[in-house]
Amino acid sequence: MKKLTDTYVLNNGVKIPCIGFGTWQSTGEEAYNSVLWALESGYRHIDTAAVYKNEEMVGKAIKDSGISREEIFITTKLWNDVRGYEDTKAACLESMRKLGVDYLDLYLIHWPNPVKYRENHLALNVESYRAMEDLVKEGKIRAIGVSNFLIHHLEDLMKNVTIKPQVNQIKLHPGLIQKEVCEFCERNNILLEAYSPLGTGKIFEVQELAKLAEKYGKSIAQICIRYSLQKGFLPLPKSTHKERIIQNSEVFDFELSKEDMDIIDTLPNYLAPLKDIDNINY
Ligand code: A2P
Repeated sequence: MKKLTDTYVLNNGVKIPCIGFGTWQSTGEEAYNSVLWALESGYRHIDTAAVYKNEEMVGKAIKDSGISREEIFITTKLWNDVRGYEDTKAACLESMRKLGVDYLDLYLIHWPNPVKYRENHLALNVESYRAMEDLVKEGKIRAIGVSNFLIHHLEDLMKNVTIKPQVNQIKLHPGLIQKEVCEFCERNNILLEAYSPLGTGKIFEVQELAKLAEKYGKSIAQICIRYSLQKGFLPLPKSTHKERIIQNSEVFDFELSKEDMDIIDTLPNYLAPLKDIDNINY
């Protein structure tokens, strides 16, 4: 990857810009401004979700940017309160209405095992996913996939659906590498998107990363984003500050050496451990 608009190619041939702009925990004017700044800075891939409660503001920023719809890759996600064929279709159309778009580039099932549907979650994931497949056939979504799925969730889904997931968006940052699920996705040509590539802000105290940042004359955030790209992941850094949004896009003028990649690969996780996905309480 040489620039922000360079693309990965999903397993259905759809191209996806190699860094996405994350919007988790931004709402209202903050979400609006940050998306507008991101688009002004050259990002062409915006990641949101129904549960972020910012789809309207994200959509307004996209519209106000003046950039044509086809140039921007938009992802949103099905939240845990909705499962099943009809309700999933309705939720997806509602997200599109809020975003003010007539198609989505990528739609994901946000979590595999919502507390509300725990008894029957695998079968309901399949039902929801079938609705997503039909929305693809109707031309309303260009690519579909999942988020936070572990191998057993993926295996069950893939046994029961026609379109292989194009993406699995999971938490990946230095110290949290989720080796098994990554290997599974790589083997199956499912693109790994990395959410919280900066450990949701807490990565900045890690001394090993501070040393590498000094060595390369880059910020810790830039080291983390570059690491994610060199792993073949698609990072989704989030910021509400214009100068950081720009900084996080300037990761194409240096390359981490194999030795330094190895150092990052073997860091312990100094941050929050991965949640027990099958026992979350939402
Ligand atoms: P802010 O939004 O105030 O700029 P992640 O992408 O892993 O979820 O991390 C997002 C967090 O990292 C946010 O708290 C964001 O703060 C912070 N952040 C994003 N980019 C930078 C940066 N370049 N330097 C310092 N902090 C950053």
